[in-house]
Amino acid sequence: MKTVSTAADLRNAVSAWREKGQRIALVPTMGALHAGHLALVDQARRAAGKVVVSLFVNPKQFGPGEDFERYPRDLEADAEKLREAGADLLFAPPVAEMYPPGFATTVHVAGVSEGMEGARRPGHFDGVATVVARLLGLVLPDVAVFGQKDAQQCAVVMRLAADLGLPVEIRVVPTVRESDGLALSSRNAYLTPEERKAAPALFRALLAAQLVHELGERKAAKVLKVFRLAIETEPRLVLDAVDLVDAVTMRPVETIDRPVLLAAAVKLGRTRLIDNLVFGG
Ligand code: PAF
Repeated sequence: MKTVSTAADLRNAVSAWREKGQRIALVPTMGALHAGHLALVDQARRAAGKVVVSLFVNPKQFGPGEDFERYPRDLEADAEKLREAGADLLFAPPVAEMYPPGFATTVHVAGVSEGMEGARRPGHFDGVATVVARLLGLVLPDVAVFGQKDAQQCAVVMRLAADLGLPVEIRVVPTVRESDGLALSSRNAYLTPEERKAAPALFRALLAAQLVHELGERKAAKVLKVFRLAIETEPRLVLDAVDLVDAVTMRPVETIDRPVLLAAAVKLGRTRLIDNLVFGG
């Protein structure tokens, strides 16, 4: 696996493959890689002959007071994991390469980006859409792979690709979990041992809500109530946000009569964790 840090080197490597007729897959990441990311690389390998992984902690998607500064960074360890996972090229640019002097574009995907996490983290999805658009423009991949754990991000990227007519297939890979159900996340590294023990209560609460729906409950308010009560069983978890929305439009639903996304964020000490389930329909 080769590592490059400039847009020019990235383009050269990718064009050489394309001239040979290779299909190319892109896995955008912010590093601090775990098995969830490696599942994305695995999916990318199945989808294309060459796999490019980008590693860039994107300042544009962090709000003031968020964890941009303390976001875990270990390029060498990440490169080693990607080499073992069979990636072909690692693109790890500095900020000035992603956003060179004069960079003036912001991509705003209306609708799907505006509720839920978009409302609570103003500017977050503009930052995501801008960096993803730039990465898609640099690599021009046949396939780009994202994780279901960031469900709203997936909806934003799909809308972006569809609206701009980008010739890329967006693939979404199911969330990878620890054996106790905790969704893998780079931010799990912040948890103390006690917080780590409490963290799977988030997934259990999502499952409880899904179960009550599967047993016949169609009213969103009732399903949300079951979720909230289940969260309260673990005093360390502080519910930050929960949404029950149409799985495609990300608009709130009152009745579960189509596939819905139940997405939640909790605080455990200083750490904010998110998770979600799709069910119904
Ligand atoms: O999911 C992430 O890690 C980031 O939001 C992404 C897609 C790499 C854009 O910075």
